[in-house]
Amino acid sequence: MWHESVLDTIGDTPLVQLNRLAEDLPCTVLAKVEFFNPGGSVKDRIGRSMIEDAEEKGLIEPGGTIIEGTSGNTGAGLAIAAIAKGYRCIFTTTDKQSQEKVDVLRALGAEVLVCPTNVEPDDPRSYYSVARRLADEIPNSVYLNQYDNPSNTQAHYEHTGPELWEETDGRITHFIAGAGTGGTISGTAKYLKEHNPGIRVVGVDPYGSVFYTYFHEGVFDEDEIYPYFTEGVGEDILPENMDFDLVDDFVRVTDKEAMQMTRRLAREEGLFIGQSCGMAVSGALQWLRDHREELAEDDVVVIMLPDSGFRYLSKTYNDEWMRNHGFLESKPDVTVDEVLKMRPQDQSVIAMGPEDAVGDAIERMTERGISQMPIIENGEVVGSLTETRILNRLIEQPDAREEPVRSIMGDPLPVVPRSLHLEHLSGYLERDAGAVLVDTDQHANYAVITKSDLISALARMGRNGSNGEG
Ligand SMILES: Cc1ncc(COP(=O)(O)O)c(C=O)c1O
Repeated sequence: MWHESVLDTIGDTPLVQLNRLAEDLPCTVLAKVEFFNPGGSVKDRIGRSMIEDAEEKGLIEPGGTIIEGTSGNTGAGLAIAAIAKGYRCIFTTTDKQSQEKVDVLRALGAEVLVCPTNVEPDDPRSYYSVARRLADEIPNSVYLNQYDNPSNTQAHYEHTGPELWEETDGRITHFIAGAGTGGTISGTAKYLKEHNPGIRVVGVDPYGSVFYTYFHEGVFDEDEIYPYFTEGVGEDILPENMDFDLVDDFVRVTDKEAMQMTRRLAREEGLFIGQSCGMAVSGALQWLRDHREELAEDDVVVIMLPDSGFRYLSKTYNDEWMRNHGFLESKPDVTVDEVLKMRPQDQSVIAMGPEDAVGDAIERMTERGISQMPIIENGEVVGSLTETRILNRLIEQPDAREEPVRSIMGDPLPVVPRSLHLEHLSGYLERDAGAVLVDTDQHANYAVITKSDLISALARMGRNGSNGEG
């Protein structure tokens, strides 16, 4: 069995149970995993349907140009359909979108114009306005406008809704999704509610978008509009595809909650998904926990996961980006100094001189239960002695006990300042001796830190709750 075109692989994506994240809930919680589509997102569904609808309406002739304003995923869906059908694509997008998304569009042969994010939608520089202008200027072109184009909602009414109904044998009781154009939530909800009016539909909105307040208070509040980082969801406009009458409740989620839940889905459920998936799951779990009393054991909740983690490798899955945006608590500012303070008071280093006998060094190390020792001459660290070095030498030459330490000592242990951060210390400890010397600021007075000192200090910090990565 094969498919005649990649377009025939769109849809019929799997439903996967969330086992860990929803463990505390009495009902079954499933995720509709849309990264299984050929363009990696739910938007492949509307790419095909909007183009076919434009063809049916005679809005585009063979060889024409598809124009769209897209955060990336719709562009990929359109580009795939355009390749199969022989159209050129020009997309406008915003400078907020991940570079990976723009790269995907270009890889699929599309031309991409990046426009500023923080301008009004009717500003001539906005990605909506630029798309409209291009459609006016280019002959045989069509601006598909996923926001107001009814074939967006229709694709979900005809496919996403029926799939969920069939995949759950009609047992679905709740559908929870984020909204951008509103096509997914509205089309799916319409189909599901026609089949069972009792199904509850919950929208999830990022802070900074207008949907939440519009739903609860019926007002379009300009003060609610501010920049946020979660891509593809929330709006500063009210798209025609967003049908609030089909939604029973709206919750909202911060960028930080969305980003952290995105990572948890990858690590705890093995679902390597995008930011708006983390947002949807975070909002869904919040809503389900708030409504726990109303949930029954045989309830089946479906949460929409629109796209793949590959689109966010340079953002949500990059520690530095996460930390720079405050989405990941910085590692605690712990230095070598704090490790020293956690040890028993006697920190004076046990050392020997290069002219001392190997035998005396062995005795000193055994007596004090240490496995390495710095070799110091006139206040200078000139070498180190480790158990392994001594052992190797004694095996080769059993009478080496009488020799001076200088003949077998290795390179000096690295000397680090008290202010060194622990994340840098482990690199030093990986080296041969597995220990460092700390310069205690007093002439010729060093302290040694070994791997086991570091492990016991970290374990103690963990117990005291000071190691708080989110
Ligand atoms: C990543 C992502 N998630 C969710 C959505 C929202 O879907 P819809 O536009 O159908 O409301 C989009 C839409 O752009 C998206 O790109």
